Amino acid sequence: MAFVLTLAVLLSVTGCAELITVTSPQRYVNVTVGGSLLLQCSFISTTKETTNLVVMWNFVEKSSSSLKQIYYSQADQDVVPPEYKGRLSLPPSHGTGGNVSIGISNMQTADSGLYTCEVRNSPDIGGKTEASIVVQVLEPPSAPFCAVHGDVAVGHLVTLTCHSEKGSPPPTYTWVRLDQARARQPIMARVTPTGILEIRNISEFKFGEYQCTSTNAVGTSTCMVELSQEAEDGVIAGAVIGALLGCLLIALVVWFIAHQVKKHRYAAVKTPAAEMKGSSRPPPATSAVSMEMSSPSHDSTHGDDDEARA
Ligand SMILES: *[C@@H]1O[C@H](CO)[C@@H](O)[C@H](O)[C@H]1NC(C)=O
Ligand SMILES: *[C@@H]1O[C@H](CO)[C@@H](O)[C@H](O)[C@H]1NC(C)=O
Ligand SMILES: *[C@@H]1O[C@H](CO)[C@@H](O)[C@H](O)[C@H]1NC(C)=O
Repeated sequence: MAFVLTLAVLLSVTGCAELITVTSPQRYVNVTVGGSLLLQCSFISTTKETTNLVVMWNFVEKSSSSLKQIYYSQADQDVVPPEYKGRLSLPPSHGTGGNVSIGISNMQTADSGLYTCEVRNSPDIGGKTEASIVVQVLEPPSAPFCAVHGDVAVGHLVTLTCHSEKGSPPPTYTWVRLDQARARQPIMARVTPTGILEIRNISEFKFGEYQCTSTNAVGTSTCMVELSQEAEDGVIAGAVIGALLGCLLIALVVWFIAHQVKKHRYAAVKTPAAEMKGSSRPPPATSAVSMEMSSPSHDSTHGDDDEARA
């Protein structure tokens, strides 16, 4: 800075060239959502005159890379685009004093990007005419959503997910289990950067409350889920067992009756029994028929394929 000044003075004394030097003490600036920001910029010009002073602030959005002019002043006339009116504060005395800093209030994530101040003070055209500042708007993570996927039953795979809709920089996620005393127990499982925790072959020891923490540089937010063998599971199991027992009982009764009838028939007459033996022969024949029937069905599927191809 001092060197540049000396150089500028030297050059102005010798009259070789007119020079302007634009500088900013900022390079990277962080601001939280809703916050205000002073974008600092100043210039030193060899010419004392500022009647031809032109000050510009440009903004290149991080995500779009299209350039937008957010401030322009020339001959004491300021131009501020409508979307910045009311949230942009102008440089003191239009920058004529060398201070061309602007302020922006109510910063939003869309305001993240590169801000450049550019100064021309004709006839000072040479030198360093601009300075840039990288701005990152930080947003704390929004309350995350915790969810359970899969069967919460012993031996199954259960997946826990956690996600914050908002947050800049993108939040990272951690899971802990809360024990009976609500003490935080670490989980011996990997959590993906997107907040997914897989509990393979779950056992009763792993049931309980799980807490996810979503964190970034400016904030922290949590959510919880409870892993417990659902009460309905027991009811359903009971119903299924009851139904099965009922079926078994009916089957037993039917078998018993059939057996008794058979016994009576065998005991009463022998010829009908022989007939029954004879009638028990056909099954191989029917199975042969069914086999014959099954092969044309293959052909018919081929036919369908052909039709489909045609
Ligand atoms: C801005 O925030 C990021 C975190 O996103 C941090 O790494 C960086 O050091 C911060 N920079 C300044 C200048 O505070
Ligand atoms: C420039 O002006 C702003 C007010 O707009 C002030 O806050 C800042 O301190 C000034 N910078 C210098 C270097 O004087
Ligand atoms: C699941 O865990 C039980 C003990 O909790 C173990 O006996 C079983 O072998 C495990 N199964 C698999 C597939 O890891």
